[in-house]
Amino acid sequence: MILPIYVYGSGVLREEAADVDVESIDREELRKYIEDMFETMYHADGVGLAAPQVGDSRRILVVDGSDVAEVYPELKGFKRAMVNPRVIEQSEETAEYSEGCLSVPDIHCNVIRPKKIKVRYLDADLKETEEELDGFACRMVQHELDHLDGHLFVDRVAPIRRKMIAAKLHNIAKGKARTSYKTRLEK
Ligand code: NI
Repeated sequence: MILPIYVYGSGVLREEAADVDVESIDREELRKYIEDMFETMYHADGVGLAAPQVGDSRRILVVDGSDVAEVYPELKGFKRAMVNPRVIEQSEETAEYSEGCLSVPDIHCNVIRPKKIKVRYLDADLKETEEELDGFACRMVQHELDHLDGHLFVDRVAPIRRKMIAAKLHNIAKGKARTSYKTRLEK
């Protein structure tokens, strides 16, 4: 099932998401929900999606970099679902990449973040996993992790660039964004 994507200006994108309660969750429902998130992401031509972007303030994210593996070889086969992910280590060394976001249509900006992280999470079967990430794979996951803490990549761009995109952001928050996928704006 394809879900509408909440855009910039929506309150849910600014909330800190809550952990999924793994004791009480229906595992089959969770698996289905994760499939819906992937479907929604593919439909919108995205490479990552966090649950708050579909209006659900829980710590769940999905990424699939297969489509850009020609540019970033480390992304070959990099498809993950992460439940309750947490960064447990990050490098001091940083990297700069251009980012975009399905919740912030038509805006791309360079963002500086740690080059490598180690992340601990539960997979779609709630199996605990630890993984070291580098390169663009690391970048994709950090962008989605930000969503779970109520942050957006545009919060992290240089002030001068931020000024340049202010009018565009204002338009998105007014419901004027044009997208090929279904969106929702809820203050
Ligand atoms: Ni995003």
